Formats: sequence, structure tokens, C-alpha cells
Amino acid sequence: MADGQILAGYLAPHPPHLVYGENPPQNEPKSRGGWEQLRWAYERARATLDELKPDVLLVHSPHWITQQGHHFLGVKHLSGKSVDPIFPNLFRYSFELEVDIELAEACCAEARECGLTAKMMRNPNFRVDYGTITTLHMIRPQWDIPVVGISANNSPYYLKLDEGLEEMDRLGKATAEAIRKTGRRAVLLASNTLCHWHFHEEPEIPEDMSKEHPQDYDGYLWDMRIIDLLRRGKTDEAFELLPQFIQEAFAEVKSGAFTWMFSAMGYPNIPGELHGYGTVIGTGNAVMEWNLVKAGLAQAD
Ligand SMILES: [Fe+2]
Repeated sequence: MADGQILAGYLAPHPPHLVYGENPPQNEPKSRGGWEQLRWAYERARATLDELKPDVLLVHSPHWITQQGHHFLGVKHLSGKSVDPIFPNLFRYSFELEVDIELAEACCAEARECGLTAKMMRNPNFRVDYGTITTLHMIRPQWDIPVVGISANNSPYYLKLDEGLEEMDRLGKATAEAIRKTGRRAVLLASNTLCHWHFHEEPEIPEDMSKEHPQDYDGYLWDMRIIDLLRRGKTDEAFELLPQFIQEAFAEVKSGAFTWMFSAMGYPNIPGELHGYGTVIGTGNAVMEWNLVKAGLAQAD
């Protein structure tokens, strides 16, 4: 078996509003659209993902919170209804997904090998969180690629920030090793918003885009500064600024997916492709891609 490899990583945020705006049959609430820049950004990302033909999609979600260690979906077939606890009016989604158990177990074993507390989630009735579902739906609405779902231990919130992010760095290295050993051709999805300052009241019509704009100007400036660095391939500089960005922009990347993904890819200083940026209830969201095949760091099929 050839060594597995990571084909690409995507920054793939999960506001449930994007699913609501799209009106897929799986989601009960219906809208008149909205958040088109971000939804169309995802359409561009879908096209590049399709070209890569990965065996598996790995997603780290801030909204599957596990206080004791890092957990991995460990049931072959999961189905049920995922509801956003903050926006149940927008997101009540009937999901059905297949898990790549062999890779998930390898990720869990490698994480333990790296000294992390890690566990497989074996509850057959588990209700998958809306972050995982939204990211997966937006990047691949066909649901025809197996997934590995990874919880957020949220160690950066409980430990010191640098200690927590160091754990995510280790989780990334463990993930890469598991992919290599299992021979998978994998795509990583970091389910994170950037600036997370948000409005506290929803407009009467949630999809009324005349009400949508950045909640905080300084937060917007931070988003543009980070995106600009990432677009120019200045990954190292972006990571140097990350702690300050997290603190000043209340950035959701604190929950670790972004660090996990870049660690797994080896923090490549290659230009990220921005598919689009937009706000959702005032928070900053970018859909971005780091294509390791195009950069010559992974082999095409
Ligand atoms: Fe979130």
C-alpha cells in the first residue's frame, strides 16, 4: 500500500445560516436565500474538491465539545436530526453519513501515541453537531465521501492558549501520521469562523442582507490582515500573529481546527486561495483552500 497523503486543506466555516440560505431538502426551515457571497464561495470550493477525488474528508468542529480529551466519530453509519441550539429556527437538518472507521481509529491511536487523551465515540444514536454537518454539507452536499469527525477538546479555553494550541499541533501531526499509515488520500476541513464578534439580535427576516455587515470594524481589519498574509503564503507570519488575533478579534480559530489543519499539512508557506469572504450575524467567515497537489507537495491521482 502506498503511503497516504493530504491533498488539500480548506478553511470551511459552519454558520448554519449558509445551509438555511441554500434550502436543501434535508433542512426543515425554508428561506428566500441570503449570504450568497459565502454560499457561492463554497460552490467554488466544491469544484476543486471534486477534482481532488479524495477517499475521505476529515473535519474538526468547535461545536462537538468534549471536555475529556479528543474524540473521533466511531460508528460506521450515523443518521438523525442535527439542530443548532442557538438557531433552531434556521437549522434542523436530517443527516446521514458514513464514517471511515479504520482511519478514525488510526487517528485516535496516533493521538494517544503523541501523549494526548483520545477516545472513539461509539454511541450509535449520537446526534452529530451542527458545525460538522454544516461544513460537510457546504463542501460536499452529495454526502458521498466517508468522513472522520473530530471533537473539540477546547483545551485552548481551559489551558493557557499556547498550551492548548500546542495540543492541537500534536493532534495535527497525529492525524497526518494516521493518514500516511492507512494509505488514504485525504482532505482536511477546518470548521472555523475568523472574527467572532456577533450581533445579539436577529433581524425579523434572518436572511435580510440589508442588515448584514461586520459587527466590529477592528475585527474586520484583523480578518483582512490575516487573510492577506495567508493569500500571500505567509503562513509563518499568520501563526505568529494568531494569539493576538484570537484575543482581539475573539476569533473562533481559538478552538483549534485551524492549527490542527496547518500542523497536519506541515505549515506550508504556500498561497491560500480565497474563494470568498462574508459576514454572518456580523462574524467574519472566509472559505479558503490550500491545495497541496497544485503546490507540488502532494501527488495527483
Ligand atoms: Fe461556531
